[in-house]
Amino acid sequence: MAAEHTVLDPRTMRDVMGNFCTGVTVITALDGGDPLGFACQSFSSVSLDPPLVSFCPARTSTTWPKIREIGTFAINVLAESQRTLCAAFAVSGGNKFRGIRWAPGDNGAPAIEGALARVEATIENEVDAGDHTIVIARVTGLTTLHNGGPLLFYRGEYGHYSRM
Ligand SMILES: Cc1cc2nc3c(=O)[nH]c(=O)nc-3n(C[C@H](O)[C@H](O)[C@H](O)COP(=O)(O)O)c2cc1C
Repeated sequence: MAAEHTVLDPRTMRDVMGNFCTGVTVITALDGGDPLGFACQSFSSVSLDPPLVSFCPARTSTTWPKIREIGTFAINVLAESQRTLCAAFAVSGGNKFRGIRWAPGDNGAPAIEGALARVEATIENEVDAGDHTIVIARVTGLTTLHNGGPLLFYRGEYGHYSRM
């Protein structure tokens, strides 16, 4: 296929960046007794020493400002079986945890049952970045929970991993 050079509009940005396949996480915190969370694919490892990760909440997110205020959260790395769960956490508002099995993790943030791994963290820094912000988070806990396959997101669709 010949390379196509296209205009720099948000739709094109989304489409072209969609070629970069990622895993998907749900970032959670406990607000008093109430669990909060939103689906997030912009998660990345940043530094090993000190242990830092990053992710980018949209400015339109209603959940991130609440998690920011709590300051302590968990990044749940989703397994391939959690596609429906992911969709529930990708909508704004409502009780996203209805029917979801979870328990407080080591730092109190909701640990979603069936996730592949969990990274517990606190906010180190947050930087403005257009219609999103970049959160740099300090890792306080790391757990691999099981060895199943990851949920992947590619060109706007879910998929699963297969080894070459
Ligand atoms: C696969 C996938 C990846 C997403 N990644 C992000 C992300 O990196 N950052 C973000 O702010 N929203 C992301 N979203 C959208 C949010 O999950 C959604 O806007 C959010 O749940 C809105 O709810 P809130 O208003 O409760 O924050 C993603 C959605 C999906 C389905």
